[in-house]
Amino acid sequence: MIHRSWMKNQGIPHDQFDGRPVIGICNTWSQATPCNAHFRELAGHIRDGVLEAGGFPLEFPVMSLGETMMRPTTMLFRNQVAMDVEESIRANPFDGVVLMMGCDKTTPALIMGAASCDLPTIGLSGGPMLNGRFRGQTLGSGTHVWKFTEQLKTGACTVQDMIEAEAGMSRSAGHCMTMGTASTMASMVEALGLGLPTNAAIPAVDAQRKVLARMVGRRIVAMVHEDLRLSKIITRQALENAVLVNGAIGGSTNAVVHLLAIAGRLGVQFTLDDWDRLGRDVPCLLNLMPSGQYLMEDFYFAGGLPVVIKEIGAFLNKDTLTVNGKTIWDNVKDAVNYDTAVITPIATPFKPNGGIAVLRGNLAPDGAVLKPSAATPRLLRHRGKAVVFEDSDDLNRRIDDPALVVDADSVLVLKNCGPKGYPGFPEVGNFALPAKLLKQGVTDMVRISDARMSGTAYGTVVLHASPEAAVGGPLALIQNGDVIELDVEKRTLRLLVDDQQLAARRARWSPAPAHADRGWVKLYCDHVMQAHRGADLDFLVGGSGSAVPRESH
Ligand code: FES
Repeated sequence: MIHRSWMKNQGIPHDQFDGRPVIGICNTWSQATPCNAHFRELAGHIRDGVLEAGGFPLEFPVMSLGETMMRPTTMLFRNQVAMDVEESIRANPFDGVVLMMGCDKTTPALIMGAASCDLPTIGLSGGPMLNGRFRGQTLGSGTHVWKFTEQLKTGACTVQDMIEAEAGMSRSAGHCMTMGTASTMASMVEALGLGLPTNAAIPAVDAQRKVLARMVGRRIVAMVHEDLRLSKIITRQALENAVLVNGAIGGSTNAVVHLLAIAGRLGVQFTLDDWDRLGRDVPCLLNLMPSGQYLMEDFYFAGGLPVVIKEIGAFLNKDTLTVNGKTIWDNVKDAVNYDTAVITPIATPFKPNGGIAVLRGNLAPDGAVLKPSAATPRLLRHRGKAVVFEDSDDLNRRIDDPALVVDADSVLVLKNCGPKGYPGFPEVGNFALPAKLLKQGVTDMVRISDARMSGTAYGTVVLHASPEAAVGGPLALIQNGDVIELDVEKRTLRLLVDDQQLAARRARWSPAPAHADRGWVKLYCDHVMQAHRGADLDFLVGGSGSAVPRESH
């Protein structure tokens, strides 16, 4: 009685309490997350689908993470949302779950939490915004923020130009429409088989996105009847496919961290080395910003992700199961490429080197990553003197100082921006070049940090150096003038300082004071793992299943 009666206050008829599957619709709607602000309407279409298929839909909110608004960084809260999702699913009597994901961290957070429960689960991405337009040119989310910011520094544009451009950049509901982290993670959802085909690219405001939501609602009910659990979908083979697809789309380096964390939840053996090994031979087929020219709307009209997956069929684990009950290959084998300028054929790829390069050496013994397709080819092998910034405040204070001793060959080093250091592992690794060099026409330099970078960013940027500076990783020991050698072909990143000197510097090093003595930040700092382990909390690795805890009434 207590369960039925209270539910009936929402107008649910008695005959709906007949034992049908209860479907939780996990919603990250929030006006403070503009990329997900259309989710209430989208959830309605999912509900329609669940009801049509004979399910019992229950929409529930979890904490939402808006990339552009939250401080210090949404990544500080990814694991908190994952805990929210996990406990919300476990505490409530759900038989299956729909994950509504959009802005960058909402996707991995929801998948991580759901993975630790392992119910039948299906993902629905919110879709990208329409193409940005401004004075006859196409604008990409994020990518043009970086461009305008640099132009403002050099005097090539005015504040008024920026104000006009920002309105044209975000023309509709949806997430960033470049191949940034949100589009990358939506593609990962589809590549993992967790979303229905075409999930990644349908624009947020296209009617087909509503149709997809309805289909998702119908399908999750069938998945419950089939007991098609998340662990049957996200297998090692599916993760391998996702890595290959990330290479082929020129996806964000953030996917590295997120997929490692998801694998950890499922107990799947999957490491940074898998990223390098699998991605090495995959060419980048997608001519999308930030590496290329087009945007997600163009990608949708060209045929979307099924075309890309079909193109890399020779690399693919073709038999992995997807949420519609078919294999990934069945889903894509008839896909047609309607625009080879946007999705290039594999024989004539947009860029020969997709994938993510994993670098090792005495500067990052546990690895660092670089996205070759977003880098300047001539800098992929480079030796230069370090110009060191101790943290992001130091960087902001000095980077544009005319007295800064720096030239185009310098290697810019930023410390203390890793998972523990900032704290929260922010996207500051793609920091802007010194204004005086920008004015000289320098467009890219080697930058090294323990930070992440926005998926919409570009440049020869070495990220996620592990262990990070804040825990005494080698990055902490670099001093101005040290010579650093990067060789992406050989996958090496070396600090050319002898071991004796490094040992002496290490003896003098001490950690910074704790960031917090209470609350989430303390829990996070006490338990966050390093980048090469996905920056999850150590006690969240693995899962607790979906059993609803004991009755309290
Ligand atoms: Fe939300 Fe880019 S800010 S996806």
